[in-house]
Amino acid sequence: MGRQLTLSIFRYNPNIPGDQPRMQDYKLEEHEGMTLFVALNKIREEQDPSLMFDFVCRAAICGSCAMMINGRPRLACKTMTRTLPSRFTVMPLPVFKLIGDLSVDTGTWFRNLQIRTEAWIHTNKKFDPNELEVRMDNKVAEAIYEPERCIECGCCVAACVTANIREDFLGATGINRVARFMLDPRDERSDAEYFEVVGNEDGAFGCVGIMACADICPMEIPLQQNLAYVRRKMAKAGLKLDLKGFKVS
Ligand code: FES
Repeated sequence: MGRQLTLSIFRYNPNIPGDQPRMQDYKLEEHEGMTLFVALNKIREEQDPSLMFDFVCRAAICGSCAMMINGRPRLACKTMTRTLPSRFTVMPLPVFKLIGDLSVDTGTWFRNLQIRTEAWIHTNKKFDPNELEVRMDNKVAEAIYEPERCIECGCCVAACVTANIREDFLGATGINRVARFMLDPRDERSDAEYFEVVGNEDGAFGCVGIMACADICPMEIPLQQNLAYVRRKMAKAGLKLDLKGFKVS
């Protein structure tokens, strides 16, 4: 017989008039290889069909099932219950808009991030569909692939001190996105142009260096390294712009 688990789960549906935020306990028996995702499904199927949470892939690919698990942002489908005590809390991610219970709207946040960071290749080259594909050096492709592995789950944003107090902060995922395009030789933006996007307190210079993002990233993306890369480039670009301004004035 497995352990008896008690999940203390945050409940609140803002769409129900008069509903109040509260913690609700659910008990269930743990079985071999159980993930939190499985436990939540069991609760919803057998005890409470009103419990709201998100999932799509169940394989740590889509990023939908991120939540605060015993105080840490993690993916429910990647978290084995055996790694948790027999009683633990489950809460929605902070920073994002609450839809209900454990479900939050990360989509709007990430869409705004793509727009703010202009997350597409900027080039003046005309696209010719008849041309052969342009080859890319393996090393460059691998370097781009690293930040590209982000599944936009929001764990790093939820863990970030700055993002929790400043709603306009791009967060590690935003800086990581910018690093991806800086590394791409097809993107013709200059450092000065990137400076316009991330060379400020809401971007590369807003991080206070606690680096919780890098500690909790479920994909183990080197967020700290990517931030340092963008910061170095932006510090140089900022200095050049300052010097230019100094000469002119
Ligand atoms: S369900 Fe897709 S990451 Fe967990």
